[in-house]
Amino acid sequence: MNNTNMKAAVYTRYGSPEVLRIAHVARPEPKDNEVLIRIHATTVTSGDVRMRKADPFLIRFFSGLFKPKAPILGHEVAGVVDSVGSKVTRFKVGERVFGSTGMRSGTYAEYICMAEDDAIAHTPDNVAHGEAATLTVGALTALHFIQAVGLQRGEHILIHGASGSIGSAAVQLAKAMGATVTAVCSTANVELVRGLGADHVIDYRRTDFTKGGNTYDVIFSTVGHTSFTACRHLLAPEGRYVTSSAAGSDYWHMIKSKLFGGHRVIGGISAGGAEGIAQVRDLVQVGKLKAVVDRHFPLQRIADAHRYVDQGHKRGNVVIDVAA
Ligand SMILES: NC(=O)c1ccc[n+]([C@@H]2O[C@H](COP(=O)([O-])OP(=O)(O)OC[C@H]3O[C@@H](n4cnc5c(N)ncnc54)[C@H](OP(=O)(O)O)[C@@H]3O)[C@@H](O)[C@H]2O)c1
Repeated sequence: MNNTNMKAAVYTRYGSPEVLRIAHVARPEPKDNEVLIRIHATTVTSGDVRMRKADPFLIRFFSGLFKPKAPILGHEVAGVVDSVGSKVTRFKVGERVFGSTGMRSGTYAEYICMAEDDAIAHTPDNVAHGEAATLTVGALTALHFIQAVGLQRGEHILIHGASGSIGSAAVQLAKAMGATVTAVCSTANVELVRGLGADHVIDYRRTDFTKGGNTYDVIFSTVGHTSFTACRHLLAPEGRYVTSSAAGSDYWHMIKSKLFGGHRVIGGISAGGAEGIAQVRDLVQVGKLKAVVDRHFPLQRIADAHRYVDQGHKRGNVVIDVAA
């Protein structure tokens, strides 16, 4: 490999994890407003596996109808600034950075270019690259929806899917905002989410949370497997339902609540962005948000990492170590 090439995991068709293979591709070069990041770590998100499978089919309208338009997957990145464009002022060569590519992908590689005003920030000194890479998509999404729903200090929030990437960040963020948190997860993750600060934990394998007598100011559905219809009776009179994983009737209730009032139902796509990543960085720095890492895989084993995430039960985040 020469210094105009780099190693990357590429996919040129949709399908099972085997569509991912290691290849040598052209190394990107930064434009005037971009930094070139030497990637040390990335992750496999639930979004990555959906894109790999083109599931739901709708993904093809963005990613390519018959085959992926962008052959390199991956949305989270941590690494070191390798070079900068002539107009970059926020970052210098050698600085540690972390961030999210947002709607683009391309982090399953040794290098990526990002605009200096993308969702990137300096990595806090006490955070390893592998941890930093996990603090973007899940945390940005959790932050976006918690802000969108207007969670207030002293309110009671129920977080469903509390052990996932979004859920594990949401538990910490809600606690940091002074809310009382009830977390829903399976038996294996009860201690994990308690350790993240949940005040109450409901093990969904033993107890149906929708049959409990408590009411909540906010219900945050992070991984699907529930709906506004199933939870409506648990909401306080001014209660709000927010979902990062809307399906079926949730869409109708989003429109209905906007037009006719009643319990607010909020969904959509997380905005992410530079402002969000700066907030995440500040929270990490003051110890209010920490990485939840399930396991690491080297880039060469990207297909195994996808196989694992495909099972739908990762705890927090799965890290891909790019630079050995
Ligand atoms: N709207 C947006 O902007 C946006 C952005 C990012 C992601 N998303 C979407 O949000 C969803 C969640 O993403 P994520 O990355 O947080 O997922 P994730 O990390 O893959 O979620 C894994 C977790 O889901 C839990 N889970 C599985 N089945 C469950 C069930 N029946 N009930 C409760 N929990 C269950 C598992 O816990 P157990 O092992 O304990 O079951 C596991 O810890 C995905 O659909 C993703 O595509 C949306």
